[in-house]
Amino acid sequence: MAKIKTSFFCQNCGAQHAKWMGQCTTCNEWNTIVEEVIQKEEKRTWKQSTTAKPVSRPLKIDEIQLNPEERIATKNTELDTVLGGGLVKGSVTLLGGEPGIGKSTLLLQIALNIPHKVLYVSGEESQSQIKMRADRVQTNNSNCLILTETNTQQIFKHIEEVAPDVLVIDSIQTLHTNAIEASPGSVSQIRETSAELIKFAKETATPVLLIGHINKEGHIAGPKILEHMVDVVLQFEGDRNHTYRILRSQKNRFGSTAELGIYEMLSDGLREVSNPSEILISKKDADLSGTAIASTLEGVRPLMIEIQALVSTAVYGTPQRSTTGYNLKRLHMILAVLEKRAGFKLGAKDVFLNITGGIHVDDPAIDLAVVAAILSSNQDLAISPQVCFAAEVGLAGEIRPVSKIDQRIIEAEKLGYKTFVASKYNKISSTKHSIRLILVGKIEEAFATLF
Ligand code: TYD
Ligand code: MG
Repeated sequence: MAKIKTSFFCQNCGAQHAKWMGQCTTCNEWNTIVEEVIQKEEKRTWKQSTTAKPVSRPLKIDEIQLNPEERIATKNTELDTVLGGGLVKGSVTLLGGEPGIGKSTLLLQIALNIPHKVLYVSGEESQSQIKMRADRVQTNNSNCLILTETNTQQIFKHIEEVAPDVLVIDSIQTLHTNAIEASPGSVSQIRETSAELIKFAKETATPVLLIGHINKEGHIAGPKILEHMVDVVLQFEGDRNHTYRILRSQKNRFGSTAELGIYEMLSDGLREVSNPSEILISKKDADLSGTAIASTLEGVRPLMIEIQALVSTAVYGTPQRSTTGYNLKRLHMILAVLEKRAGFKLGAKDVFLNITGGIHVDDPAIDLAVVAAILSSNQDLAISPQVCFAAEVGLAGEIRPVSKIDQRIIEAEKLGYKTFVASKYNKISSTKHSIRLILVGKIEEAFATLF
């Protein structure tokens, strides 16, 4: 019989401490350390474990057989792309996101659409609430079973009866196991219940989808090791005030983490957005100053986004700079470069920058469009909406090359843009493209060709 032992865990970062403290020494949060019961692991040396019969034996890499049936397509193109081609059998996927962003909606829609038997276990909503949601998203699947239960032992009993092909858990923070006494949502419960689910997934080759809440820093609540234990970590993000939602993968043992899925939250559920560029660019009649189109790459997918800038004389002594969807430090850097290298006096001006659609972009290739939008607003001269930009701006005011330029140009051509502004240091095969290319080396050159 294993000995019961307690330990002290920080509820914020999951760090384990030997004694109670007012402040966690790992994350410096106050009053987050709680005593939890943990099961003492039986010590086992490797000699003892070799007495047990090994279940797998070492194989040469070319002896290993690959089964093409390893993946289950979810019938949701965006999710399948992000996962790298569907759910891998026996994999555990963790989906994190802010409350109300649409995690339950996404997984319920998938559970209802997937042509396999699904057990959707909810610890958050009642069966009738889930039915209401299912009616709202207007999909019905007799293969999808809904269970409201939070005890893992009970869940496993139902799994034995139902034998689902896919298991969905909403959410890992509501589960508890009989093995330990800590309350649901505590670090040791999350660790223990997810370990049980991972064991279940691996032993039965059933894919498991877990929903995880995130804490105020935007990380998945619970121990950090949870993210190491699961195979795939997905993040569902978006702006509450906008309808677009982005599904990113932070970790994927079976595919690239560069892929990205885009959804739109409508009154009847999440709709997949297959042509994101068309919606992210606001349709306007007249040419307005202060907007520029940038070509960005999210994963391997080129995306055209619209950048809006407003430059106005500062009303107060200290000029204001604010950004939505763009790094504020980067804006400061660009303003300093414009001031010092190109002689634009922006020091006494308020500068506001906005990326439309409520998405956040880290790709440095949008720098040139940011510069163009700022200068366009400053000079009150509109840039033709037929022009798009893809280049990074360096500290010396040089226009730097960006990755995958051909892909960006092809997307711009496809969407009907007439002119593409890029760095002259980008190796572009000019014969390949019919779009007019403007290749510049310095901010001044870009400015001279634009206005
Ligand atoms: P939900 O999936 O409950 O979020 P989470 O599980 O991440 O906490 O999403 C709830 C939000 O989505 C809620 O604000 C209402 C909105 N919503 C729609 O706009 N349309 C819909 O069809 C559904 C089901 C929800
Ligand atoms: Mg939910």
